[in-house]
Amino acid sequence: MQTKYLYINTIGCQMNVYDSEKIAVVLQPLGYELTPSVDTADLIIVNTCAIRGKAEQKAFSFLGRMAKLKRKRPGLIIGMGGCVAQQEGRKILERMPFVDLVFGTHVISRLPEMVTRIEQKRCHLVDKTVYPGINEYDSITGAGSNGCDNYCTYCVVPYVRGRETSRQPEFILSEILELIGTGVRDVTLLGQNVNSYGQKEGLCSFAGLLEKVNALKGLGRLRFTTSHPKDLSEDLMLAFRDLDKLCRHIHLPVQSGANTVLKRMNRKYTRETYLEKIEKLRQICPEIAITSDFIAGFPGETEAEFLETLDLIKTVEYDSLFAFVYSDRPNAPAAHFGDKISETEKKARLQVLLDLQEELTHKKNRSMVGSIQAVLVEGLSRKQPGHMESGKGPIVQWSGRTEGNKIVNFNCADDRETAVPAVEAGYLVDVKIKRALSHSLWGEPVGAKTETADLKGDKSYAA
Ligand code: SAH
Ligand code: SF4
Ligand code: F3S
Repeated sequence: MQTKYLYINTIGCQMNVYDSEKIAVVLQPLGYELTPSVDTADLIIVNTCAIRGKAEQKAFSFLGRMAKLKRKRPGLIIGMGGCVAQQEGRKILERMPFVDLVFGTHVISRLPEMVTRIEQKRCHLVDKTVYPGINEYDSITGAGSNGCDNYCTYCVVPYVRGRETSRQPEFILSEILELIGTGVRDVTLLGQNVNSYGQKEGLCSFAGLLEKVNALKGLGRLRFTTSHPKDLSEDLMLAFRDLDKLCRHIHLPVQSGANTVLKRMNRKYTRETYLEKIEKLRQICPEIAITSDFIAGFPGETEAEFLETLDLIKTVEYDSLFAFVYSDRPNAPAAHFGDKISETEKKARLQVLLDLQEELTHKKNRSMVGSIQAVLVEGLSRKQPGHMESGKGPIVQWSGRTEGNKIVNFNCADDRETAVPAVEAGYLVDVKIKRALSHSLWGEPVGAKTETADLKGDKSYAA
């Protein structure tokens, strides 16, 4: 079979990263191999995100650039998948008539059929395939903990990913076992509300699932994201204390520190219940890293409500956080709420929030100086990827992550020309932290590596 090349541009969350991998797998039997360059591609797919206006614009500007390529090479097939495709469907073709294929979030298993149709017909007829498939069920991504039932008033996810569905634990376990067999070390269980896993279907609890995954031989680290505060159970808190492979880190988006705003957002918890849970979690597992998401300038957010958010950030002292200016989404109810905050004011509030967290992150990082952290090596440091000469010979700067997901850079002697390198991606190295920078840590390796090079890689995984 003739080899053809597939280029995938993935925008958005890890769910999309997971889906893009599936896209590459289902198109393999048609002869498609992945290429890192649009110039050599026969098929270009953009896997889109609809969470904020900016993410959506990113997809359209990429497609705009691809239109130019297609004018030079009319045989090129261009497809758009993911959450914007699901949201807009056929409307994409009116806006971007050069697009050959629009497919939503639940039809990845049908892609080979759609692409084949386009390949066969394209010499005499430009075939347009629209397949948002809102109620379709996809057998390849299976019953991933895909979708969301929470309907936060600002959010598009329930409309583009559908209702929450959880996969059977057996499927999850066997897929992870297979991944371990291929050398994967670090597994992340994914879902928009992953800690409500199994509730609706009456499967095992999420803590129960973690326990099963933790028991798999050959696994190094286990993570999960994202958790909804209302579903943070005591069992899950205890898992952080009891499961040896579970990284002591939870991403627990709060969005706002004001009860009035939380209510308008339909978040289903209060500032007080959130803070109680954080306190209990820290009692059970004092070393846990906690991160969060915030929205600045939700419709009607007053200065006083915003100050309550800043106060919550100071109270919790997060390890780090993501914050976004509120963005109207076409399907989400908040788009119709009154009292919209101006762009300038939203941006100003975002900046205040980020500046505050920067101080707190730096303080947290400084408190880690002197500690020894287990670092899972990801590769050579991006800033200094080359060798530096020292008195003793070549030194290489490596980069990895702590359990709490903090980036640690460290130097390590490397005599790879003559012998086995001292460190490789996939190793777990004990590093003594020497210096705290605002976004990363710097340290020196101490003690022996605890893992071997034949076990490496990380993988996100829709649970
Ligand atoms: N399921 C996750 C969130 C997924 S979206 C949860 O409930 O926590 C990731 C983040 O994007 C959200 O936590 C929120 O902070 C932000 N976000 C979602 N919709 C947004 C919107 N309309 N405008 C701005 N930020 C938004
Ligand atoms: Fe969106 Fe809320 Fe669901 Fe998160 S929990 S995906 S913010 S609706
Ligand atoms: Fe974006 Fe869709 Fe994920 S909207 S955040 S890619 S589920």
